[in-house]
Amino acid sequence: MAGGPVVGGLNKRYNGRSTFYIYFVVILGACAGLLLGYDNGVIGGVTAMADFQLKFFEDTLYAHNHPAEYLAMNPGQGVEAAQQAQLADQEAASPYCKYDDQILQLVVSSLYLAAAATSVFAAHWARKFGRKPMLFISGVLFCVGAGLQGGAVDVGMLVAGRVVLGLGVGIASLVGPVYNAEMAPAHLRGAMNVLFQLAVTIGILAAGLINYGCEHLHPWGWRLSLALAAVPGALIALGGIVLPDSPVSYIERGHMEKAHKVLVRIRGVDNVDEEFQDIIEAARLSSQIKHPWRNLFKSQYRPQLIISLLFMLFQQFTGINAIIFYAPILFSSIGSSDTTSLINTVIIGAVNVLATLVAVFLVDRLGRKFLLIQGGVQMIIAEIVVGVTLKKEFEKASSSRLANIAAGLVSADSPLVVPDAVAIGVLVVICVFIAGFAWSWGPIGWLYPTEIQPLETRTAGASINTASNMIFTFVIGQSFVTMLCSMEWGVFLFFAGFVITMTLWTIFLLPETKGKDLENTFRTFQTHPFWSKFSRVNDIHHNELPRISEEGANPKQADAPMAEEMPNPKVINQAFLLMLTKLSKAISAWVSLGQA
Ligand code: BGC
Repeated sequence: MAGGPVVGGLNKRYNGRSTFYIYFVVILGACAGLLLGYDNGVIGGVTAMADFQLKFFEDTLYAHNHPAEYLAMNPGQGVEAAQQAQLADQEAASPYCKYDDQILQLVVSSLYLAAAATSVFAAHWARKFGRKPMLFISGVLFCVGAGLQGGAVDVGMLVAGRVVLGLGVGIASLVGPVYNAEMAPAHLRGAMNVLFQLAVTIGILAAGLINYGCEHLHPWGWRLSLALAAVPGALIALGGIVLPDSPVSYIERGHMEKAHKVLVRIRGVDNVDEEFQDIIEAARLSSQIKHPWRNLFKSQYRPQLIISLLFMLFQQFTGINAIIFYAPILFSSIGSSDTTSLINTVIIGAVNVLATLVAVFLVDRLGRKFLLIQGGVQMIIAEIVVGVTLKKEFEKASSSRLANIAAGLVSADSPLVVPDAVAIGVLVVICVFIAGFAWSWGPIGWLYPTEIQPLETRTAGASINTASNMIFTFVIGQSFVTMLCSMEWGVFLFFAGFVITMTLWTIFLLPETKGKDLENTFRTFQTHPFWSKFSRVNDIHHNELPRISEEGANPKQADAPMAEEMPNPKVINQAFLLMLTKLSKAISAWVSLGQA
């Protein structure tokens, strides 16, 4: 979540009551997360739909995945048809490569490159022009992008639609949560951060359900799936018209009267003086920060910069979006029907939402580190199990397929099919993986990097965080299917390797932020045996840090009362380390057993 001037802390209660505006604002802010989730979730199901493949990838994906239908549609093409049949035959024998197509991956990933670009500038624009117009623009971009995608006549138009959507995603992912946090009462502000992630997961689930419903609508169901992104887009645009800008934004741009009027309206009481004065003070302090980007690259903030970049790299290299984007493809590769693949995606989406709710309750109780480590270990186990299971089962299925072909029991182009029980087992383990991610690196990936940014770097830090999320999402979207084709089952061990690395990184190098205010977090890095090497204290002006930000930097940080209930972190670290060592020994024994 991005940051602007922040006032109040979790314990600070200003005058006010729940108003209609606040509910509306929360729904609006949630739409930004919903859209990101919808866009993440919808494309995997759509690319697995036969009608979509037939329209845009007939000679590659459709031919490989529906060989019999393809040949029936192209009966008179002599040599070419025979070649296609041969190709389909090869593909049937190599389930990992069925969907390996760079253009297909570009359709998936182009959105995130565009989003990275706008997220870098969005904080600056929102400050200069206000949150409201930026929300309106992002809503319009969503509607145009959804229209282009839904009406696409060729791949170019499809990619253009994804790019336009991406421009909107970059803006909304940054401005939506900021607007939300600025409008919400101070004591609810911290919750807005996790709400964003929750909305992302609900968006993914909604996309799965809509794909499931649309798959039966031939031949245009995929169009409806893609075009429905316009619904939350239109809501955001409407909000951008009818809602007022935030009081902080009005004050930043010198409209004091308007700011006061809006605050009275959203709090539902006449006396808002205390909060109003705090906002003015926070905005004044924030306006003194002239060069947040330059600050972020100064040596004393290098730990913050490195952690922000690494957090999203790690978050994406858990392989989460390999699953979110390509789960339907994965299931169809192991022989599930299109409909079953889409049902499985819905199940995964539901687990994602429920496990994120768990994070909402646990993140301030158990702390960030504990959840990151626990979730990491869970993901490592799940990925290794999926990888090794696929290896073993595909080998078995392949030899029984060859035996059946030789015995004339099945045709030469019959696909590989693994037993239903195995497909269900893979689904269960993927759900374990998703749950591990959803209560750890999912929400904390957005939360932790914002908690460590001081006021001097907060806006730039938020942009870096969002942009690096989008860039690494792009990398995964653009490469996963090719990786799957070349690394086969090993791709899951590749991701597991990353999760092992980041879990160790968390254990040894990541300071806990739970319950710490800005001042404390800052000092933690200055005195940390590792991070202090990056952060030279000589050019720190930290005593000039605005005091108001220390309490209100991130309202969640003020929530410290559970600290004593936490078990000793050293003991947890040692226990996990021991577990990891034992685990890696068990894995290597298991893998060499499989190879024997
Ligand atoms: C990630 C997204 C991912 C989602 C899954 C978010 O935290 O940034 O890339 O699709 O979680 O729930």
